[in-house]
Amino acid sequence: MAKSKNKYRLKMGNKPTKNILITGGAGFIGSHVVRLFVNKYPNYQIFNLDVLTYAGNLENLTDIQEKPNYHFIKADINNAKEINTIFNEHKFDSVIHLAAESHVDRSIYDPLAFVKTNVIGTMNLLNAALEIWKGDLEGKLFYHISTDEVYGTLDETGLFTETTAYAPNSPYSASKASSDHFVRAYGETYDLPYIISNCSNNYGPNQFPEKLIPLFIHNIIEEKPLPVYGDGKYTRDWLYVIDHASAIDLAFHKGKNKETYNIGGFNEWQNIDLIKILCEFMDEKLGREKGSSAKLITYIKDRPGHDKRYAIDATKISKELGWKPSVTFEEGLGKTIDWYLGNEEWLINVTSGKYQKYYDKQYS
Ligand code: NAD
Ligand code: TYD
Repeated sequence: MAKSKNKYRLKMGNKPTKNILITGGAGFIGSHVVRLFVNKYPNYQIFNLDVLTYAGNLENLTDIQEKPNYHFIKADINNAKEINTIFNEHKFDSVIHLAAESHVDRSIYDPLAFVKTNVIGTMNLLNAALEIWKGDLEGKLFYHISTDEVYGTLDETGLFTETTAYAPNSPYSASKASSDHFVRAYGETYDLPYIISNCSNNYGPNQFPEKLIPLFIHNIIEEKPLPVYGDGKYTRDWLYVIDHASAIDLAFHKGKNKETYNIGGFNEWQNIDLIKILCEFMDEKLGREKGSSAKLITYIKDRPGHDKRYAIDATKISKELGWKPSVTFEEGLGKTIDWYLGNEEWLINVTSGKYQKYYDKQYS
């Protein structure tokens, strides 16, 4: 376990410092947020708390693990007692909460696991923060990372805004919606300072190959079928993960207390069109014959409760905080594929063992 906060503070002289707890920092998005904060703010102490589920992987952070302002705490947000002890020891002044069960298909098989981590786990963090912050809320912030899936589904037109009514359709999105409501309720009832951001689908390096893009990259490398749910005409709004991290950085530092920010790439793709582009990129990068990856496309039974379309209106964060994505989809996809091709060992490590069991259950 990491050392006490005062020791660090003495070292930092006059520079403004913070003790920030980032939960889920060994996962996909969390690892990019941890890296950004550790490198950009050497005066902040960054505590990455993660229980290391199948989706948590410390290999995502080997480049920063020796930095003096980075600290790892292996702990479970479902364990209230342990969480309270950790908050008391480190006296965090801010929390950026990403730890979650994050895959819709898994939530269909085991909804309760999602309630436990996403709802109860979030409550445990809220309670622990409130306990150490009560009486002195100045400079404190509980930043909750959420998803656009809480808004449910859209028809052909329209966008999700910050005022769209919640209408979650999957156990995953229902658990995230519930956690958002609790964060807001703690703001209203106990005056807990909070920000919530709701982001669209992320893609990029280090994403576990159960989500569409890394799963299909992995299957193309292995020349395995590409399992397209239903007719493939479902639409998602894709954002490069590093652009999500930069939005979180901005909202954390410049966002207004008790506000919600929608984050998205203005980048809608029907699944089948995205898959075709991905196949073309992969043929080129792997030096395979044109059209060979597309031959792997296999239509399979649809996901139950499959949301037709997600699309985010990110005007508020763009106008109020000056955020915009840094890469085009083609650039981001190219970088993502290059990362997976250059990190074969990472891919082999995460797809060995239990992954096969999950894969067989989901796709057999
Ligand atoms: P991920 O599944 O890759 O990582 C989740 C991390 O949380 C893992 O490191 C895991 O070990 C950790 N974790 C899970 N249960 C825990 C527990 N009980 N205690 C401590 N740690 C635990 O998820 P991700 O895709 O990086 O998503 C991160 C957050 O962003 C989630 O809250 C998710 O809802 C949200 N989000 C994700 C997307 C997306 O496209 N992936 C989009 C919008 C919002
Ligand atoms: P996914 O990456 O699981 O994200 P989410 O469900 O949170 O949007 O899926 C993205 C889209 O791709 C979604 O419409 C479901 C579809 N999909 C497939 O067609 N086949 C697959 O094997 C997976 C994992 C997803």
